[in-house]
Amino acid sequence: MSEFVKVARVGDIQPGSGKTLNLRGTPVALFNVDGQYFAIHNSCPHEDGPLGEGTLCGCVVTCPVHAYEFDVTSGECLTESAYRVERFEVRVDGDDILLRQSADA
Ligand code: FES
Repeated sequence: MSEFVKVARVGDIQPGSGKTLNLRGTPVALFNVDGQYFAIHNSCPHEDGPLGEGTLCGCVVTCPVHAYEFDVTSGECLTESAYRVERFEVRVDGDDILLRQSADA
């Protein structure tokens, strides 16, 4: 199991928005859903659209390329069930947001 790595600070990402960052070379999209943080791989499994630049509505992000929708809490694609995006574990420690690769990745 990999270690948690600090990637951002609380306040860097406003509720209802997301941010693209790098976790040891892996592009990750980190979202703030009403004060709770969720992280998925930034690359859309359809054609690699940047999910971190998508529009977040509740816990659903819409890919900016072809508008497929993904639940950021589960990684499931709501548009095409064959697609799923990798999730990352998120931990908040004081003002720091830390990530690590999820056990189910
Ligand atoms: S690249 Fe994301 S929906 Fe096509």
